Amino acid sequence: IPGDPERLKQVFCNVLDNAAKHGGAGRRITASVTREGEWQVVRIRDFGPGIPEAELPFVKQKFYKGTSKARGSGIGLAVCDEIVGLHGGDFTIANAAGGGTVVTIRLPGPQ
Ligand SMILES: Nc1ncnc2c1ncn2[C@@H]1O[C@H](COP(=O)(O)OP(=O)(O)OP(=O)(O)O)[C@@H](O)[C@H]1O
Ligand SMILES: [Mg+2]
Repeated sequence: IPGDPERLKQVFCNVLDNAAKHGGAGRRITASVTREGEWQVVRIRDFGPGIPEAELPFVKQKFYKGTSKARGSGIGLAVCDEIVGLHGGDFTIANAAGGGTVVTIRLPGPQ
């Protein structure tokens, strides 16, 4: 995947940190990387409580924490969204079918 390795690492660390702290201690986290046409697609899913539907439209805004009482300033997803956007990709977060949260990171593959 072409890109800035340090910034992409920051994205994956932010998302995994969210899965661990918001998804609930001791629960499973799954990650996959697949190729979908021109895109390299990374999906990270947890099996926690998910995000309340009313809060989902706002979670990528800077400093938005919703009803979360977990540590952190609410900046992680805004930074992830910006880094992935600057790589020409897109970053989406949603509730997974069957519970938990799923983050999908699409990045352009090598030319
Ligand atoms: N995997 C998840 N499960 C449940 N809620 C989540 C998950 N990921 C994010 N959220 C919700 O989205 C909010 C914003 O996430 P974001 O990563 O931007 O901030 P944070 O994790 O609270 O703090 P920071 O990333 O700055 O340490 C969280 O406070 C939480 O309410
Ligand atoms: Mg975070």
